Amino acid sequence: MRCRKCDTPAVINMRHHKLALCGEHYDEWFVNSTQRAIEKYKMFGRDARILVAVSGGKDSLALWDVLGRLGYKTDGLYIGLGIQGEIKYSDQSLACIRKFAAERAPDSTLHVVDIQETYGKTIPEISRETSRGHGKPCSSCGLAKRYVMNRLAAERGYDVLATGHNLDDEAAVLMQNTLHWQTGYLARQAPVLDASEGLARKVKPFCRFYERETATYAVVREIDYVYDECPYAVGNLTNFYKTLLNQLEAESPGAKLSFYVEFLKARQAGFFKTPEDHKDLHACEVCGQPTTAPGRCAFCRMWNITTASGGALIAPEAITTRGDDAFEDIEARVAETVDVSGL
Ligand code: AMP
Ligand code: FES
Ligand code: ZN
Ligand code: ZN
Repeated sequence: MRCRKCDTPAVINMRHHKLALCGEHYDEWFVNSTQRAIEKYKMFGRDARILVAVSGGKDSLALWDVLGRLGYKTDGLYIGLGIQGEIKYSDQSLACIRKFAAERAPDSTLHVVDIQETYGKTIPEISRETSRGHGKPCSSCGLAKRYVMNRLAAERGYDVLATGHNLDDEAAVLMQNTLHWQTGYLARQAPVLDASEGLARKVKPFCRFYERETATYAVVREIDYVYDECPYAVGNLTNFYKTLLNQLEAESPGAKLSFYVEFLKARQAGFFKTPEDHKDLHACEVCGQPTTAPGRCAFCRMWNITTASGGALIAPEAITTRGDDAFEDIEARVAETVDVSGL
């Protein structure tokens, strides 16, 4: 397979676009496509202050890289979840992010919010104490990530919060929500969620890229990222739907993209309505973050933060932003083993 533009060997063949490209032309295509998505969905303008939520994986580091190259003003946010296991998942993630920030985003600030330092327990520890998630930490983790991302973005005055969700992520969630006809969730699944009182504007500039495409970009750009996924995500339902969609895609190239893009059109045409209860947000009586629940928000309930024990509003300074403590350089990282060979 050869590059359509220069006839040198291609690094990727995108059957859904009928397009094969070499590294150099792929890089150019990927950056331009990101800019087109930002404009198409009116995500943000040239002067926006963007907070990029980075996990240490390929998608979010690629996103930070592309936005920087496009000339946007970006800062990074990493949330330390205290998930280690044999692969030292959280430490490895932070090490990759620090390396990236130092080498490729030297003018940006990297915020690091460590959940254990800030709230006293790691995600696996707190999840053992709550009824959320039936013994798995993913639900507590998702809640904590959404909370911290939103809070930091809103309180530090960012115009927009950007995440690295790719097409495979979005299509898998879409499939899950469609199989259960979760119309409320469907109404809120979008490349852009507008800001509302206390809620930051959220965007997903990579929502039209296949996972294989973001991985190829990261490899072409020689970004060091964590290849392993969170140990708790292995075998979860989302991955099951991703596998199903890959089978569909193998038979019918472009199926995943059209499933998602046609859904967005239907949503835009008003097929799904935001549920009434989500329209009436009010401030959590402890932390002030918006919530649908009466009284305390789900996050404050999970950590059992009360007005009595925690004082009134948690001051913004209570969110730790860690300094430059050194982490071992992980030489043995596994980028070369990334499987970008196809579905
Ligand atoms: P996930 O929910 O793990 O599929 O991640 C989706 C997106 O959420 C990533 O692309 C990141 O933008 C963001 N994200 C995930 N984990 C973290 C984290 N620990 N800290 C900051 N952002 C994260
Ligand atoms: Fe949160 Fe896995 S449980 S990333
Ligand atoms: Zn080429
Ligand atoms: Zn709260």
